[in-house]
Amino acid sequence: MTISQQQPIGTGFGARTTATEVLAGLDLSGRIGIVTGGYSGLGLETTRALAASGAHVVVPARRPDRAREALAGIDAAGPGSVEIDELDLGDLESVRGFAERFLASDRRLDVLIGSAGIMACPETRVGPGWEAQFATNHLGHFALVNRLWPALAAGDGARVVSVSSRGHHRSPIRWGDPQFATGYDKWLAYGQAKTANVLFAVHLDALGKAAGVRAFALHPGGILTPLQRHLPKEEMVAFGWIDDDGKPLEPSFKTPEQGAATQVFAATSPRLAGMGGVYLEDCDVAGPATGEGTTAAGVKDYAVDPGQAARLWSLSASLTGVDAFAAAR
Ligand SMILES: NC(=O)c1ccc[n+]([C@@H]2O[C@H](COP(=O)([O-])OP(=O)(O)OC[C@H]3O[C@@H](n4cnc5c(N)ncnc54)[C@H](OP(=O)(O)O)[C@@H]3O)[C@@H](O)[C@H]2O)c1
Repeated sequence: MTISQQQPIGTGFGARTTATEVLAGLDLSGRIGIVTGGYSGLGLETTRALAASGAHVVVPARRPDRAREALAGIDAAGPGSVEIDELDLGDLESVRGFAERFLASDRRLDVLIGSAGIMACPETRVGPGWEAQFATNHLGHFALVNRLWPALAAGDGARVVSVSSRGHHRSPIRWGDPQFATGYDKWLAYGQAKTANVLFAVHLDALGKAAGVRAFALHPGGILTPLQRHLPKEEMVAFGWIDDDGKPLEPSFKTPEQGAATQVFAATSPRLAGMGGVYLEDCDVAGPATGEGTTAAGVKDYAVDPGQAARLWSLSASLTGVDAFAAAR
């Protein structure tokens, strides 16, 4: 995929489309999905919508008790179903354990949506000293997808959806210091991690399409969720997101149901048949970035550059020690 292939296709959906509207008329009975972060914010709405269309959704949870509370009732609402298992994306042993349990169940995997993420946290180190946003948002998902590859390849046209953000405009991959050995900046770290989410989809799609597995990345929109937990109220007021009483001010904010729509679209829409490696916004393929800063729409050229994507894949494989395609490369 290159920046010139980033052109809207005219899906008829838009910024206010909900996940339920995207799925209208689609029967997902018998389909199996994994939604990381599927018990909060956009992930929760994604789980709800997929299960309501008949899918069986596995929700890997860092806090299984919290997941059980959040997902109570979805099973009963039918016709789909939900299963919870433990996973901490910042811990590669936990990723390995989750993947091994899923593979041992001998099921194929039709959809994997990487919705879990953290944003703009204070400097935090996980695993062997990795910067937490790069490790959780990107490296954990990289290891998870590679470990689950046999189940994805066994599916009939599986899709992997990498939930990125317009925040990718804040930073390309910092090849000289991806782990912020010096000069940690919470927003640059988020930007780099979200660029990594896009590049991951670009290269996974290039590697996976021969097996019928396609990958997409996306910006879901701006939605008030627990994702903002690390931001002081004063910072959100200064951004114009909320007033002093915490009331939302930004007119472009979506509801969680609207915020979940683009990832559900990426995971299921027949309109994307034969495509992959592209970055989506508002339930359509996004165009190239139209300007500077995170208020500008579209995707940055550095985030869909195939050379950068291949380089990030190699770095991620060497850091995590996992690469489903090692023999093929
Ligand atoms: N909300 C927005 O405006 C917005 C805009 C652009 C992009 N996004 C992207 O959308 C995605 C979903 O965001 P959201 O708004 O739905 O956030 P959210 O409500 O905070 O949900 C994030 C989920 O990720 C899970 N998670 C965090 N760290 C984890 C770890 N180490 N291992 C496993 N799970 C972990 C959280 O679990 P716990 O609750 O147990 O911590 C939670 O379930 C993120 O990737 C975010 O970057 C959101």
